[in-house]
Amino acid sequence: MAQRPYIVGNWKMHGTRAMLSEARAIDRAAQRLMKVEVAIAPPYTLIHPAHREADQISVGAQDCHHADGGAHTGDISAAMIADAGAKFVILGHSERRQGHSETDATVKAKAEAALEAGLRVIMCCGESADTRKSGNAAAFVENQLRGSLPETIDSASERLTVAYEPIWAIGTGDTATPRDIGDMHAAIRALLVELYGEEEGREIRIIYGGSVKPDNAGEIFAVAEVGGALVGGASLTADSFMSIALAAAETVDA
Ligand code: PGA
Repeated sequence: MAQRPYIVGNWKMHGTRAMLSEARAIDRAAQRLMKVEVAIAPPYTLIHPAHREADQISVGAQDCHHADGGAHTGDISAAMIADAGAKFVILGHSERRQGHSETDATVKAKAEAALEAGLRVIMCCGESADTRKSGNAAAFVENQLRGSLPETIDSASERLTVAYEPIWAIGTGDTATPRDIGDMHAAIRALLVELYGEEEGREIRIIYGGSVKPDNAGEIFAVAEVGGALVGGASLTADSFMSIALAAAETVDA
């Protein structure tokens, strides 16, 4: 891996204050693993307390609204999560696209708002099992990213990460094969170079998500163009999450 690997835990709707001990343990372990950039995205309610516990890791959110504020009951703006200590936000996760009918246009508006609020963005993309079977996975993902990514981003390589998460691999125990991951990440790389230019487009990290576990992480991180992982289930305990981070550290040249 050429760049510093980025290992992000997506806690989804898991965690009450009792989970802060895991955040602390993750932070302590990350202090001994400086070759890797470790981050967690807990539920909104834990962003501020987790941020206060964290010396080494960054804390982010799993979504935000695209508006600055106003009559949007139950929603939270990018500026609010930044104020709570979030440094980044995950956007366009398939569970948001499916469970909350988020379109590419909605996701793009959120990304623009997040960047405006000074947050980094992890933009998710990924195809369904049917799309993969039909042979159109790469075209689908390209189209999804064209619709979801802002046209211009200052310092795109610093502020944007793309997470490829095939929907059929999320929470199922099935992972894409190294060859499929490599092919898709290469296609995403070509698109990023087209959209953001040679220099920025080559540096933007592309991370993989979908049933990444300690026992398959090494194989996944060995794939070209895999710059880290977005980890769901296995990020809920410091032990399994940091085993994945360790596997990423081992791919970095000494
Ligand atoms: P998983 O989730 O690791 O539990 O498959 C990944 C994600 O949805 O980000």
